Formats: sequence, structure tokens, C-alpha cells
Amino acid sequence: MRDVEKRDALILGIETSCDETAVSLVRGGRKILADEIVSSAPEHIRFGGVVPEIASRIHTDAILDATRRAFAAAGIRAEDLDAVAVTYGAGLLGALLVGVSFAKAYAYAIGKPLVAVNHIRGHIAAAYLANEELRPPFMTLLASGGHTAIIHVKSYEEHEVLGSTLDDAVGEAFDKVARVLGLPYPGGPSVERLAREGKNTVSLPRMLKGAGGYDFSYSGLKTAVINFVHTAAQKGEDFGKADLACSFQSAALNVLADKLFRAARERGVNTVTAGGGVAANGYLRELLTERAEREKKTLILPEKRYCTDNACMIAAEGYIQYLKGNFADLMLNAKASIPLKNALNNLH
Ligand SMILES: Nc1ncnc2c1ncn2[C@@H]1O[C@H](COP(=O)(O)OP(=O)(O)OP(=O)(O)O)[C@@H](O)[C@H]1O
Ligand SMILES: [Mg+2]
Repeated sequence: MRDVEKRDALILGIETSCDETAVSLVRGGRKILADEIVSSAPEHIRFGGVVPEIASRIHTDAILDATRRAFAAAGIRAEDLDAVAVTYGAGLLGALLVGVSFAKAYAYAIGKPLVAVNHIRGHIAAAYLANEELRPPFMTLLASGGHTAIIHVKSYEEHEVLGSTLDDAVGEAFDKVARVLGLPYPGGPSVERLAREGKNTVSLPRMLKGAGGYDFSYSGLKTAVINFVHTAAQKGEDFGKADLACSFQSAALNVLADKLFRAARERGVNTVTAGGGVAANGYLRELLTERAEREKKTLILPEKRYCTDNACMIAAEGYIQYLKGNFADLMLNAKASIPLKNALNNLH
């Protein structure tokens, strides 16, 4: 295939690692032609978190129709595809297996390559969808339900983790705080909504603010919020939930912006990006925008819908692997957990 044709490759992206059945069609790793998402979140609300069996069943029900809708929306045919990219890990095993099995069958049926995509590399690649000109090197903040890290993306392949969480991920802290405040699942958006009505008046620990290099720690902050709520309950005191949510959000997110921009400054990197569900948080986006202006850095943020799980980011990362000829075979299996360093080095 001529190089110019390769650069325009059309990728079918499939993501089923958690509670979103997502299917995308992306050209050249950047141009979104179709973006279908079926969320099973409403089915999990009454359980307060994702029930893997239910998520897997809904993926099975939804995936074929979502794929058909994607092709119809883009007005293209399966024969036009260059490759099928699928999240193989990390995530809920049963949920991943639905996408992996579907993608294998699809790729086999149309005789096109299968590309195995790591979900975390997908979150990082979401920034490419936001700006056609974005090229490494850049400094990225990965802030999701399972990860919190500052990563120096030196090239499409070379990623250096400068710091990561020593305990809980920031998204996980949002989810736990939501639970103790009695807010509905998914926790992050609920806390953000409530925080908008409050003030930053509760003094909470800002863990590893100046210390710990580029590392983070969220368990102390989470525990401080839980203790605050329990102490108030024991004393029968009423407390301002919105103020607590606002104070928690401020403590949790300021440290991310501080360390991200310090890393960019110290490494002499001019472009900064972010990815993962927490990067959809409006307050964090404002913090990053202000900081970028002050420090004269270029900030590229994926649209909110491409921060949380989606298939466009999987096609964007799939495209990078496609250009390298990094194809999977039909023995591809799903993986529930993959250490961050392995994920970034594309070690399956
Ligand atoms: N507006 C928001 N404010 C804060 N947190 C948010 C917001 N929206 C989503 N989140 C958080 O983002 C997380 C979900 O993001 P994402 O889908 O990337 O995580 P995941 O796929 O579960 O984890 P990972 O990508 O690390 O495997 C949840 O913890 C959720 O609470
Ligand atoms: Mg995710």
C-alpha cells in the first residue's frame, strides 16, 4: 500500500472494557466519521457501581446494532475499512471479551488486520482527536477511574511515567466521596455538579502537594472526607454537603494541575494534554486553561465525551499501531489488568 493511502487508513474502533459499548469509525487517526456509544450506566445505578455480568450482557445485546449504526452514519461499507482496532485490556474481563470476540470475527470476516489496543494508551491518544496538528513530544495528565499519572510522551512509542498515584486513583476518590455523600453513580459528575453550588471552606489535606516528586496520593484525602462526614453524623451536626464537595474537588484537582505544569516546565515541554474521565471535569479544565495561559504552554484537551471511555480514542491509538504494522492474531485474549509501564510500552 502506498504511504499516502496508509495515512488515510480507516479504522473501526471497538471499546467494551467497562459499561460503555462504543463503536467508532475514524480516518487517519484523527477524523471521526462515526461515534456510537450505548451506556449501561442506568442499569447499574441501583447497585451503586458497575455489575460486570450486567455490563457484559448489555455489550452482547448492543454491539452489532451499534456497529451497523456507525456504518450507516458514516455512509461507508465494511469493505472500505483498513483495520479493526479493539480494546483488549485493561478492564472487566467478561466485558472486554465481548468486544475482543466481536472484533476478531469482524476482522476475519472482512479479511482485514486486527489491532489490539491498550485502553490507557487510548486515553492518551484521545488528545490527537482534538487537534490535527498535535505531535509528540507533549506532557500528559492521565486522570481516570483507575489511573493518575503524569506521562512525558516523547514520541508515538516512547512514554516516560514521571509520577503516578501511590494509592487510590483520583477518579476512584471522586467515586468514593460521592458514595459517602449519598450522591448517585457515576460519582465524578455528581460531585462536580454539587461542588458548583458550594464554597471551598473545609480544610482538607493536600497530600504530596510540594513533596513526592510528581507522585500523587488520594487515600488520605478520601479518608479525611469520610471522617468529616462520620464525625458530623455522630454529633448530629448538619454540614454543607456542597461546601465539602467543593473543598474536596479543589484539593483533589489543584495538585494535578500544579504537578503537570511543573513537569512541563522542568522538562522544557511546550505542549500539555490530558485524558481519562476526570479530565472531563469542568473545574479541572478551567485550572488547566488558566495555568497554560500563565505559563505560555499550548493546552490541548479532548472534548469531554472523549475523556471518558469511548471508541474514537481506541481507533486513534489503533491507527498508530496500524501504521507500525503491529497486528494481533486470532489468538488475542482479553486482559483484566496491565501494569502502567507495560501498557505504555505496548507489552501485552
Ligand atoms: N466530571 C467529572 N469530574 C470528576 N471525575 C469524573 C468526571 N467524569 C468522570 N469522572 C470520573 O472518571 C472515572 C471514569 O473515567 P474512565 O472512564 O476513564 O475510567 P475507567 O475507564 O473506569 O478507568 P481506567 O481508564 O483507568 O481503566 C470515574 O472515576 C468518574 O467518577
Ligand atoms: Mg477509561
